Amino acid sequence: MLVLGIETSCDETAAAVVARDGEARGRILSNVVRSQLAEHRPYGGVVPEIAARAHVECLDAIVAAALAEAGLALSDLSGIAATAGPGLNGGLVVGLVTGKTLALAAGKPFLAINHLEAHALTVGLTDGLEPPYLMLLVSGGHTQTLLVEGVGRYRRIGTTIDDAIGEAFDKTAKLLGLGYPGGPEVERAARSGDPERFPLPRPMVGRVEPHFSLAGLKTALRQRAEAAAPLTDRDVADLCAAFEAAVCDIIEDRVSRAMELAEDAFGPGRPRWLTVAGGVAANASIAAALARLAAARGFHLAVPPPALCTDNGAMIAWAGAERLARGLVDGLDFAARPRWPLDPAAPAAIGAGVKA
Ligand code: KG4
Ligand code: ZN
Repeated sequence: MLVLGIETSCDETAAAVVARDGEARGRILSNVVRSQLAEHRPYGGVVPEIAARAHVECLDAIVAAALAEAGLALSDLSGIAATAGPGLNGGLVVGLVTGKTLALAAGKPFLAINHLEAHALTVGLTDGLEPPYLMLLVSGGHTQTLLVEGVGRYRRIGTTIDDAIGEAFDKTAKLLGLGYPGGPEVERAARSGDPERFPLPRPMVGRVEPHFSLAGLKTALRQRAEAAAPLTDRDVADLCAAFEAAVCDIIEDRVSRAMELAEDAFGPGRPRWLTVAGGVAANASIAAALARLAAARGFHLAVPPPALCTDNGAMIAWAGAERLARGLVDGLDFAARPRWPLDPAAPAAIGAGVKA
C-alpha cells in the first residue's frame, strides 16, 4: 500500500509517500517539508493569511518533489491523504482541495486526516508500536494527554484550560526579547541560568483533574521580569531556567496523573508505553523529565525522531494508510474542520477557553 500525505494545517507545507506492508509496518519513501518560519518570523507568530498564501505558492512543487523522491507517479499510489483539521482554515482548504483534486484526477481513494490522529499514530510508523499507549502531545497549538486505544479510538485524558505549552514558550521568549520560535531560544538561554533565583508557580500540580494550565505561570513570569527590569543577560537566563523548570514539573505531574487514569487500559503484565509528539518534545530538559518519570512508573518511552515529532507529511500518509487498510475512506465533499477534537465525547475542562 502506497499513500501520499499532504500537511498544510499550520506553518509547514509538507508532502510524503509512505509504504505500508501486510504486517502494518511502515516505510517512509519520501518526506518533504518546507517551513514557513522565515515568512512569519517578522510578526513573532504564525499569520494565518500569510500561511495560506505560502501553502498555495509551493504545495504543488512539494507534492511533485515527494513523488519524485519516492520514484513514483500518481498512478502508482493506493490512496491520497490530506490533513482536514484541526488547524488554520485557509491552510487546511489549500491542502484538502489539492488532495481531493489529485484523488479525483487519478481515480484514487481520498482520506481526510485528523492532524492529532496523525501525531498519535506516528509511533506505529517509527517503532511499530501498537495500541494501547499513552501519548503526550505538546506543540505550539496543542497540549494534551491521550490514551490511544486503536485507530480511530482515542480517549482524551488531559487538555490545557488556557495556553498550549509551546505557546507559553513562545510568549515567554517574546516577553524577554528573545527570537521566534521561542522554545529553542528559551532552552538555549536557560542552559546558563539559575532555576531557583526567581520562584515561579506550578499551576494545577497535585490536582486530581488531569488538565494543564499555563496562564498563571506566564503572568508570574511577567511580574518577575517587570520587577527586575531592565533585564541583564543573566536575568533573562535565570528567568528562562525558572520557566523551563516549572514547565518540567508541570509536565511530570500531569503525565503522572494521566498514567494513573489510564491504568485500567493496560492489562496486568502488559507493557506500558508513553509516547510523545510535538515540537516541545525537542526540549532536552523536558525529554529528561519524561524519561525519569517513565522509568519511575514502569513505562517504556517512545519518542519519534524530531523531524517526525514536528509537523510533517509522513505522519499524514501513515494515518491515511492505517485508515485505508481498514476501509475508512472519505468522500470528496469532506469539509475542513478547523476544530476537530480526537475524542468528541471528552467533557470540556472546567474553566477552559476556546482552545480546549
Ligand atoms: O509541533 P510544532 O513544530 O508545530 C506546531 O505547533 O504545530 O511545535 C512548535 C512549538 C513552538 O511553540 C516552539 O516554540 C516549540 O514547539 N518548541 C520548543 C522547542 N523547540 C520547539 N519548546 C521548548 N523547547 C524546545 N527546544
Ligand atoms: Zn502538529
